[in-house]
This record gives sequence, structure tokens and C-alpha cells, in this order.
Amino acid sequence: MRYAHITGWGKYLPQRIMTNDDLARIVDTSDAWIRERTGIRMRHIAADHETTASMSTAAAMAALDRAGVSPNELDLIIVATATPDHIFPATACLVQDALGADRAGAFDLSAACSGFVYALSVAADRIRAGSANTVLVIGAETLSRIINWNDRSTCVLFGDGAGAVVLQGSDQPGGVLSTLLRSDGGGGDLLIVPAGGCKMPLTPEVLSKRLNTLHMNGREVYRFASRVLDRAAREVMHKAGWTSDQVDLFVPHQANLRIIESAARALNIPMEKVFCNIEHYGNTSAASVPIALAEAAESGRLRPRDRVVIVGFGAGLTWAAAAIEWSEPHAMRRSRWVLSRVSYGLAGVRSRARRLLRRVEDRLFGAGEQAPATHPHKNGVTEERKEPVAPAPDRRSN
Ligand code: UT7
Repeated sequence: MRYAHITGWGKYLPQRIMTNDDLARIVDTSDAWIRERTGIRMRHIAADHETTASMSTAAAMAALDRAGVSPNELDLIIVATATPDHIFPATACLVQDALGADRAGAFDLSAACSGFVYALSVAADRIRAGSANTVLVIGAETLSRIINWNDRSTCVLFGDGAGAVVLQGSDQPGGVLSTLLRSDGGGGDLLIVPAGGCKMPLTPEVLSKRLNTLHMNGREVYRFASRVLDRAAREVMHKAGWTSDQVDLFVPHQANLRIIESAARALNIPMEKVFCNIEHYGNTSAASVPIALAEAAESGRLRPRDRVVIVGFGAGLTWAAAAIEWSEPHAMRRSRWVLSRVSYGLAGVRSRARRLLRRVEDRLFGAGEQAPATHPHKNGVTEERKEPVAPAPDRRSN
């Protein structure tokens, strides 16, 4: 029987920190309100040059180092995100290219704040089924780019960052032991970015109404989260054959300290066994659980054979949980670390060379002039597209 072990972990947080007091200078809020209602003190905000792909790549490199795995050993890369660099290509493909993971398949997974736990479950299932042996699972978000910085009810909550784990197959019992994935699409409108997809393309009117930013009914989402969090944890513990007093660490999605505390109470898990870092990072959506896991492992709060329960919940509505027996990392030797740096450098060179080669091939053997963009005419005949491309979404300016 195959088991899927977490053998490496890493995280990346942008350098720029925004405190509650900084926010109080932008919207009508206060440090006291934010701390009391959410537990958040600060959050990290991506610099202009940083994206979900670049932060994912940095977290992935740390996780690969920790696992002692080189990128060309990866069979699959999954990036869980609600803020991909583009609608397509998938952010996971950009990460695959940046790492030079030439043997890996890559796709994004969209399950908002539950995304990382969903992705971990998919990766573990592929390993257990024997169709993959080494999988990189990333949760990453650049939420600062989809926030309405004039809306105090949401802009104080979120932050940017990325976390990653490496999963490897083994015959040794342990690793991801049970998982649960759930959804209630009937609550989709409670937490939504209404525009930017095919239902509501970006137009000047849509942009002026800020429909390309995150909208949330906080009270309803709070109620939903309080309902599902402890139940999901209980179900995966039951499937793994654990009782709550056997759990060494509970790592819930970091959305609100009050939600976490009430779930811990309902589960009868003391707060010493609950990992909370929301005060430093705010809600980083799909990145929150892997950042928390990486931080818990780095700080010694997670040790080999510890029993850990993770739970995600959020837009969709979605929720997901996993029971994991923590594994020993395979520390990377110095020589291998140096080699991996060289190979990341070469990955960039190789990627640029391939692009250049494609352009040369296109010039030499392609159709010559590029075909005009067309769209189907109503009677089935295609005609040249004339309308302008919709403008790029707003970027925050402060
Ligand atoms: O990761 C995805 C999952 N997301 C979540 O889990 C979020 C779940 N929801 C929450 O965490 C909470 O509902 C919030 C933190 C978003 C809001 O806390 P709340 O205790 O539910 O506040 P509320 O929405 O009931 O608002 C209470 C008051 C309102 O004023 P009135 O109507 O009572 O006069 C708001 O206008 O607080 C006001 N308010 C603020 N005041 C100062 C809302 N946002 C702010 C703010 N600063 N930033």
C-alpha cells in the first residue's frame, strides 16, 4: 500500500508590511476594531513586481530544498489560488517553467480558501493510486490586487503570500491519512468577485462599480464557517481513527481568531494545540494553511509522527479537511543545494532559449503574417474583431 508523506515545506511572504494603523489612514477603521473582531495586527502586501507565480516559485524552492527533491523529480505541480497571474495559462505552468520541472504536469485548482486542502487531497490520491510519486502542492494568493481598498469591511482582512509542500510516495505508513472535500454552491454569492469571468466581462462600467473586486457578506460567511469547521475536523479525525485528545496540532484556515477559538472549544482542543498566525499575515486564503504548516514545522511545533488536522473553508462555498501524520523531512545536502541553484538559473536560460527558438521557427516555417483575431458572425461567417480589448483591472494605488 502507498502512503503520501509531506517531506518538505516552505513559505514566502512579501517584505512589505501593512499594519492596522496604516489601514486606518486609508479607511474609517481602527487597530482596536480589527484586532478585537479578527485577531489581525498586520498583513504582507506584494510589491508591484511580485505575483502569485513568483511567490509560489519562492515557496516551492524552499519546500524542494527541505525535501531534498530536485525539480526534475516532480510528477505534478498543483497551485491552489483564487488570484492566478492570468485566466490562462495556469499559474502552475509558470511555476513549472520557473523551476525547470520538465517532467511535471501542472494545473491550478480553484477552491478559494479551501484550495490548498483540496489540492493536497488530489495530490495524495494520485500518489496512493500509484499514478504519481512526487507532487508539489502550493497555496498562493495576491489578494491585494482584487481588494477594494475603499471597502473597510473587507480590505482589513486579507494579505498576500505563498506556502508549499512536497508530497512523496512511500510504503511506510503515515502522511495524509484521511481527507474530506465539500461544497455548497448555493452560497456562492456570499463571497465573490462578480466580474472578470465570462458572465460579466470587464467594461468601463463594471470597473467603475468595482465589480472586479472581492465582495463578502461577512456575517453569513462567519456563520457558515462556525458551522462547518469543527464538523469537518471531526469527520477526518474519525476516518483516521483518532480522537480529538490524540491530535497534536490543529491548523485551521486563518480567517478570524474568533472562528478558530470557537471551533477549538467545540472540538475540545486546547488553544496550546491550535496553530494561529493570523495576527501577522491576516487571511491569505489558499496560502494560509501551507504558510501555517511551514511555520509550525520551522518553529518545532510540528515534529515527526505528530498528528495534525488541517481545515480550510471559504468561497464556493467550499470546505475541506485532512488528517496527517507528520513525516521526517529529507534534509538536502549542501552540494545538492548548490546544484539546485544552478539548475534554477539554467531553467530561466532554457525557458528564454525555448521562446526564442519558437519565434525563429515561426519566422522560418510559420504562416508569415499573423492571422487577424476573428469571432463568429451571427450567420456563421467569421469577421475581423473590431472592438477594443477591455482595460486591465484596477491596481491599488497607495
Ligand atoms: O477566508 C474566507 C472566509 N472568510 C471569513 O471567514 C470571514 C468571516 N467573517 C468575519 O470574519 C466577520 O464577519 C468580519 C470580521 C468580516 C466582520 O466582523 P463582524 O463582527 O461580523 O462585524 P459586522 O460585519 O457585523 O459589523 C459590525 C459593525 C458594523 O457597524 P454597524 O452596522 O454595527 O454600525 C460595520 O459597519 O462594524 C462595522 N465595521 C467596521 N468598523 C470599523 C465593519 N468593518 C469595519 C472596520 N472598521 N474595518
